[in-house]
Amino acid sequence: MNLEREQLERVDELKTAPVIGRPYLVPAVPFRSEWLESRTGWSELKTWPWVPVMGPRHEDAEHLNFEWEHYHFDWRFVPRHMLRMSTVSRGRNRFFARVATGSMVHLERLEHRRFVCARRMPIFPRSLAQGWMAALEAAYATHRLRKDCAVCPHRGMRLAGQPTNADGLVICPGHGLRWDLESGRLVPAVQTFGQKPKTKERHP
Ligand code: FES
Repeated sequence: MNLEREQLERVDELKTAPVIGRPYLVPAVPFRSEWLESRTGWSELKTWPWVPVMGPRHEDAEHLNFEWEHYHFDWRFVPRHMLRMSTVSRGRNRFFARVATGSMVHLERLEHRRFVCARRMPIFPRSLAQGWMAALEAAYATHRLRKDCAVCPHRGMRLAGQPTNADGLVICPGHGLRWDLESGRLVPAVQTFGQKPKTKERHP
């Protein structure tokens, strides 16, 4: 689809999920040349690839014991060749386990760039969060989301257009908190770890 830059919607302003196959303006940061070179040997590249990211730059020391500043990849927009290049492409958990830290990308050079939506957001795997979800849920147990613009209070991920589970709860793509957008309440998942969802999880 050939749209000029000024015709493109910004994905971080959408109220619904982006359409697969359509281009958007997506927040992105460039790879560090030395990081990419060391893994690919692409020393002759003139321009270094940019990677699509979502949400604010943050650290997760408090509940997740991860003290390094980073962005989360926006897996909906990561091009296929980038997935193939990366060893993180195998398995849903590895999608989410990989974040863009300052050793990998230039965190301070965030820009909106053109990316095509390649896939739906994978649903956050509960198995990844077993070590810290209880503390995270306890911290936001009494929080109420705003009706007009639901943003996860943990690290500010927008919840519009994100995956829902069988009960209609929106699952934050950041770290997996589950929200009821009608009531604005957090719905804890901890007690259901290890159980299969009643029905297949779906996307909006
Ligand atoms: S931003 Fe961390 S769970 Fe939503």
